[in-house]
Amino acid sequence: MPLNPTRLLPLCLAAALSLPALAQDSGANATLDPAADLFKAHCLMCHGADGSGDTPAGKIFKAAALTDPMVTTKSNDELHTVIKNGKNKMPPFKDKLTDAQIDEVIGYIRKLPPR
Ligand code: HEC
Repeated sequence: MPLNPTRLLPLCLAAALSLPALAQDSGANATLDPAADLFKAHCLMCHGADGSGDTPAGKIFKAAALTDPMVTTKSNDELHTVIKNGKNKMPPFKDKLTDAQIDEVIGYIRKLPPR
């Protein structure tokens, strides 16, 4: 059966209308990117939205700048271990995030634009 545009239109509308509802379900500042949501919920307070570590808490804890080559040159395995088990003042996330979620968040910080 050929695609009939008048049949597709209501479907598209329904999808578009359900997007804001989806976003609302997972909290006020939620986006449609689960990795971004994880970062916002668990990492942003110390590392900042841009990963610079330039936040009040980041300064107190001396949070690493996630876009710095010191961090970006590390392997995913190394970053995974630090996020999972913590390092100095960096808290461990093994009780809060699954291994899969840690990998998602690593993917997210790898995409932060360098400053
Ligand atoms: C309480 C503040 C705090 C929070 C919350 C926090 N971090 Fe950190 N993070 C730090 C500090 C402090 C360091 C520097 C650790 C060191 O090298 O001494 C750090 C370092 C790092 C590093 C660099 C590790 C390395 O070996 O150089 C990565 C990557 C990182 N954090 C990712 C994250 C991610 C992802 C989250 C959220 C799941 C997160 N952090 C949440 C404070 C925090």
